[in-house]
Amino acid sequence: MTAQRWGTRVGLVLAMAGNAVGLGNFLRFPAQAAQHGGGAFLLPYLVSFLLMGIPLLWVEWAIGRHGGQYGHHSAPGMLDRMGRGRWLKYVGVFGLFTNLTVAAYYCYIESWSLAYVWHSAVGTFHDVAPTAFFPSYLGLEEASIYAVPGEALFWFLLTLGLNVWILSRGLSRGIEAAAKIGLPLLIVFGVVLAVRGLTLGPNDPGVVQSPLAGLNFVWEPKPAGLLDPTTWLAAAGQVFFTLSVGMGSVHCYAAYVRRDQDIALNAAAAGWMNEFVEVVLGGSILIPIATAYLGLAAVGAATAGGSGLGLGFLTLPTLFHHWGWFAPVAGAMWFGLLFFAGITSSLAMGQPIVAFLEDELGVRHRRATLLFGLATLLLGFVCVWLYPGGSFDEFDFWSGTFALVLFALGEVVIFAWVFGMDRGWEEITRGADLRVPRFFRFAIRYVTPLFILVVFVGALFKPVGRWGDALQRLATGDGWRFAPDSVIGKVLHVGDARYAWVDEAGRFTHALVQDATRTLLVAVFAGCAFLVWWAWRRKARHGSAR
Ligand code: ALA
Repeated sequence: MTAQRWGTRVGLVLAMAGNAVGLGNFLRFPAQAAQHGGGAFLLPYLVSFLLMGIPLLWVEWAIGRHGGQYGHHSAPGMLDRMGRGRWLKYVGVFGLFTNLTVAAYYCYIESWSLAYVWHSAVGTFHDVAPTAFFPSYLGLEEASIYAVPGEALFWFLLTLGLNVWILSRGLSRGIEAAAKIGLPLLIVFGVVLAVRGLTLGPNDPGVVQSPLAGLNFVWEPKPAGLLDPTTWLAAAGQVFFTLSVGMGSVHCYAAYVRRDQDIALNAAAAGWMNEFVEVVLGGSILIPIATAYLGLAAVGAATAGGSGLGLGFLTLPTLFHHWGWFAPVAGAMWFGLLFFAGITSSLAMGQPIVAFLEDELGVRHRRATLLFGLATLLLGFVCVWLYPGGSFDEFDFWSGTFALVLFALGEVVIFAWVFGMDRGWEEITRGADLRVPRFFRFAIRYVTPLFILVVFVGALFKPVGRWGDALQRLATGDGWRFAPDSVIGKVLHVGDARYAWVDEAGRFTHALVQDATRTLLVAVFAGCAFLVWWAWRRKARHGSAR
């Protein structure tokens, strides 16, 4: 496996873009934008992309290509090579933990898309409204929140099987081939849907407002967002998620690049391609179509929660209904697009785990892919089974949001301050087909780490309501009220009317599911750390300490 390489440069950029382009581009971005005032979200988002996203991409590509020269294709080994400290490889544990646990819930959403392609194509939504279908599909309507939703489990197993099969085919015949098919197709589907949506006129049945009002809402930059820390937090979180930075998957793909092959232009190309797909395509489908049929005022309510899952899986299929004979095709295209976007990202979460097992523990390739599949199955089963109890949301918060920021902070500090910026800059610019502006040397050293630190502290302490009001309350001795979605708020279960594992009627509560899921995530992290410790001990015994 270590001898594997990308087949072509186009294949590499497509695979990397496929890694980034995912469900986040089409669901999370429009929902986050809508929640934070549309165009008010855009400026903090673009600034976060330039000051944090792009520098992190270069750092991760550089760490990856550097580690790859020593035969490491996953974060623990790569970070171990950044300096002398034995602790460095343990920062890389995040690169295993995050990929594994995000893959578990991410493949679950991916499997909904696959199921919905089927149901759209066979016309299920003619007879059953998606608003009734989705909750029953997820098991939300079961008498007990602990019943296993059979159909959802079936599609999840199928999706996971597909992921494992593609991974088992190897880098260029598996991942690269999937990206070469999936990415162009999703762009074609996206363009068709965007054109159809944006050309909806007042004479089309059901239309209440011009879809262009939705487009304008997302795209018209409003400086107000620049002054709101909550908008900054959301924007930075979206940049992390959409670029897949702070995960360990970019590093892994970059590790299969040759020592003198360009990374500067490749990283920028993949990053900007993601932005194009996110802002231009992602911004032109969900919100404009929803605006056309529901009106702009209702779109905000429909995106509550900021994940876009409700709008994408509940509302949009209902709206496609207005499109007559084209409705099943539009449904299949929309969910097909989501599926392709999803699978090219989940493959990137699987590969670092497979590579770790192969490189550091000597597991054979096929067996390593099966082990990844098994681990994802076990963790994913928890998300499928306990979705109604809130397990899925816990995975999304702790793995898909919090852990990314922590790992990114660790890796950028290690890169700039332990590896050192002289070597770091040489690593980024070696073989470069692009003149990287020197500003980024300064940015990677000071601006990006500081930016991430502020985001991290902001996420810890995010208050209820406006930051200004919260600070005023604090100054007047009224204390600090943590928002339920702040890190501390989550830990303290702020927002639960009454914190208990069993309710008055003797039933297990959501708080129990949340705490059990958190315990599981901590155990997974500890398990990954143990594997790293064991791998290095094993190597030391065999006389190859690194
Ligand atoms: N970057 C991937 C996405 O946006 C994880 O969905």
